Amino acid sequence: MQIQENISLKKYNTFGIDVKARYFIELKNEEQIEEIFSSEVNPDKRFILGGGSNILFTKNYEGLILKNSIPGINKLTEDSNEVLIEAGAGVIWQDLVNYCVRNNYWGIENLSIIPGTVGAAPIQNIGAYGQELKNMFHSLTGYDLFKKVKKTYIKEDCQFGYRDSIFKNSLKGNFLITSVQLNLSKRPNPILSYQHVKDEIDKRNMKNPTIAQISDIICDIRNNKLPNPSKIGNAGSFFKNPEMSENTFMHLKKDFEDIKGYKTESGNVKISAGWLIEKCGWKGKRKGDVASFEKQALILVNYGNATGKEVLEFAEEVKKSVKEKFGILLIEEINII
Ligand code: FAD
Ligand code: EPU
Repeated sequence: MQIQENISLKKYNTFGIDVKARYFIELKNEEQIEEIFSSEVNPDKRFILGGGSNILFTKNYEGLILKNSIPGINKLTEDSNEVLIEAGAGVIWQDLVNYCVRNNYWGIENLSIIPGTVGAAPIQNIGAYGQELKNMFHSLTGYDLFKKVKKTYIKEDCQFGYRDSIFKNSLKGNFLITSVQLNLSKRPNPILSYQHVKDEIDKRNMKNPTIAQISDIICDIRNNKLPNPSKIGNAGSFFKNPEMSENTFMHLKKDFEDIKGYKTESGNVKISAGWLIEKCGWKGKRKGDVASFEKQALILVNYGNATGKEVLEFAEEVKKSVKEKFGILLIEEINII
């Protein structure tokens, strides 16, 4: 097991923030975890890292970074309707999507090209274009880092919500996911409810889109709107879309007629944080190397050499102005370290 010391994390986070880690281990199999448990390299301060696409480092990390690179995609069971697939936590999410699209396993095609690893997907219950991980999630396996035991969590244990799970709350930082199991459908099950997806299907005059066509449409929509982290540093949406009761929403609508809101399953209304931020004049605005992206105000970007602190200061200003104008407190979606 190779332990690196004082290494730069710039290439390990999509925001491109240049901080250092005191210790760094890349995990390629479960035996290494057992080895860490029984060795002295087990400081109290540690952080589990996937692809680094949902985090903002604000300072050097003075503990141990465990970079999860555990590989493997396997079919566990199968019948005529569905298939249970297991993927290692270090598998790149898009590699799993490609595997499913190639094999006509329906379920995660709307989640195409979300950056990051399979192991991080349950942490915030990744979602996009009418689909969320929880809808095809079966279970996950990993290690409790305090008790040093292996454990499996089934879907009902995970407390999935909008960009939320038990792993972002009571188990935060304490549970290292090593593999994820997903239930996918062998029968076509297109999810075309999201307006932008509907529009594209109509534009392309498609009647029964294939899984590959849906995946392509999602990729096109995303590529037209989102900054590519290999060119412009970012971690996707910086804040969550705020949710409120219909009553509160109707009050807001009196003052802001064109405010954008969508009904949720629970009967609440989800407001577009991007719209709120744009209305406060932030869209495309830049300070130093930090900006609100010109095509999607909810995404804060690093044009080169921004520090995590500078990104955070910018985000605080955005929050303040949204609070002042709309009385709404934005909550960060990304993990601030
Ligand atoms: P990291 O950023 O490395 O980690 C995120 C969190 O998960 C951290 O708290 C980390 O400690 C924890 N973690 C990571 N791996 C493990 C593990 N194996 N065990 C335990 N804990 C772990 N998200 C969406 O939901 N929908 C989107 O549409 C979307 N679009 C995006 C677009 C862009 C351009 C970018 C840059 C990001 C986007 N994201 C989106 C956010 C991000 O892609 C997801 O949150 C992704 O799941 C993060 O994966 P990661 O491997 O990079 O996790
Ligand atoms: N909008 C604006 N101005 C903006 C951005 C958005 O007015 O600058 C309004 C528009 O009306 C637009 C609507 O908001 O039609 C919705 O925008 P978009 O489809 O881009 O979705 P979003 O609500 O901004 C959410 C997720 C994304 C996910 C997309 C698609 C959150 C916090 N973000 O963004 O997830 O890809 O929907 O489902 O829920 C992420 O989590 O990192 C992420 C990128």
